[in-house]
Amino acid sequence: MNKKTNKAVVLAIANHKGGVAKTTTTLSIGFSLARKGMKVLLIDLDAQSNLTFSLFKEDAEYDSIYNAINKGMEGLPIMPVKENLDLVPSSLNLAQLEISVTGLMEREYIIADKIKPYLENYDFILLDCPPSLGIFTVNALVAADFVLIPMTAEVLPYKGLASLVVLVNQISERMNPRLSVLGILLTRYKIRNNLTKNIENAIAKVYGPLLMETHIRETTRAAEAPISRLALLEYAPNSTAAKDYEDAVDEILTRLKNNEQEA
Ligand SMILES: Nc1ncnc2c1ncn2[C@@H]1O[C@H](COP(=O)(O)OP(=O)(O)O)[C@@H](O)[C@H]1O
Ligand SMILES: [Mg+2]
Repeated sequence: MNKKTNKAVVLAIANHKGGVAKTTTTLSIGFSLARKGMKVLLIDLDAQSNLTFSLFKEDAEYDSIYNAINKGMEGLPIMPVKENLDLVPSSLNLAQLEISVTGLMEREYIIADKIKPYLENYDFILLDCPPSLGIFTVNALVAADFVLIPMTAEVLPYKGLASLVVLVNQISERMNPRLSVLGILLTRYKIRNNLTKNIENAIAKVYGPLLMETHIRETTRAAEAPISRLALLEYAPNSTAAKDYEDAVDEILTRLKNNEQEA
C-alpha cells in the first residue's frame, strides 16, 4: 500500500474503553480490505481474545502471540483465515505477560520488532488493542503508522478520548514520530438520538477533521456475527453496519492517500 516503500500500513485500532467496537471494526475493515484484493494481517493483542474467538473455535490448537513473545518463538504464528486475510491469534494467558514484560528493557518495542519481517508481505497490518492504555496498547502505538479510534457516542468514552489522544501524542514525540491519528470512528451509532448528536458535535468541535464522516450504525446483527465465527460483512452483508463499514474503508483509503500526498 505504501507505494514509496512497498511496506504494509500498520494501523492500531485502539481505545481503552471496552465495548466500543474495536474488535468488530478490526475484523470488518480487515475483511473488506482483503475482499478488495489487499493482503491483510490481523493481530489480536487482547488477552480476552475476542477477535481470535470470533474466527476460530475456543478449543482449536494454535500458537498465539503469547508464544511468540514469551517462548522466544521465532517470528509470529500466522493462521490463514481466508483469501488475503491472516490472523495472529491471542490467548488468555497473554494477561500474565502484561506484568512480566513490564520489567524488560525496550518493552515498548516488542510488537514493532516482531512485525518488522512481515511488513513487505502485507498491504495492511491491523492491531486489535486491549481495553486499557497498558503495555500492549503502547506496543501497538509504537509499532503503528496510524491509530484508528472507534468509539461510541456516550459520555464516558468521550471523556476518555482526551487521555488516549495525549498518549498518542506522547508516543509520537518520544518513540514513534510516524504515528498519527487517522480518524475517530463513531460506532454503534444511534440515529435520531439526542445524546449521540450532542457528543458527535462535541467531538467535531474539539477534534475537527479527525472525526470521520462515516459512522457505523447500531444493529443487532453485529452482535450476532461473532457467534457464527463470521465477519459481520459475511454474516449480514446487507445490514446497515456492514454497509457503513464498507464506507468507512473507502474513507480510510482516502485519508491514507491524502496523507501520502501531504508527506
Ligand atoms: N454496530 C454495532 N451495532 C450493535 N452492536 C455492535 C456493533 N458493533 C459492535 N457491536 C457489539 O458490541 C459489543 C462490543 O464490540 P467489540 O467489537 O467486542 O468491542 P471492543 O473490542 O471495543 O470491546 C459486541 O457484542 C459487538 O458484537
Ligand atoms: Mg475487543
